[in-house]
Amino acid sequence: MSFTSQALNGSKPEQYAQLLQQAHALLHGERDRIANAANLSALVYHALPDLNWVGFYFFDGSELVVGPFQGLPACVRIPLHKGVCGAAARSRQTQRVEDVDAFPGHVACDSASRSELVVPLYADDVLIGVFDLDSPLLARFDADDQHGLEAIAACFMESLR
Ligand code: SME
Repeated sequence: MSFTSQALNGSKPEQYAQLLQQAHALLHGERDRIANAANLSALVYHALPDLNWVGFYFFDGSELVVGPFQGLPACVRIPLHKGVCGAAARSRQTQRVEDVDAFPGHVACDSASRSELVVPLYADDVLIGVFDLDSPLLARFDADDQHGLEAIAACFMESLR
């Protein structure tokens, strides 16, 4: 298989619709969690501007453990009571943090990170992990980004079934 990335264009929701289509095409026919997480991290990291980390943490039954990602080496284990990732996993709600320095318990892996979006990944009621994006810009993620990235996370979860 060869993948040609295509530039996104139009409004932000239109761009996310295009990115979602690319994600569907990329994951189509493959159920392997590591393969799909790796390819999706690469797709998103290279398609969207102003990101310094995109990747996955998977729940090992007690903690979140780093999975495939793009960016600098990251913290390996994050307990559920810690960080933006832990908050997303615990609350089952996407965490959109405009200023990570103002988030109590933020886990600083890359000191360049200024804002962060973390989407929890659940299969029915079972915690699978989180999809995490960091930006070197303050307030990089708005509601359009949240909706677009939640749809991409849902596409990943769908690929595992
Ligand atoms: N900042 C995250 C930790 C993971 S890194 O951003 C890759 C957190 O507070 O959970």
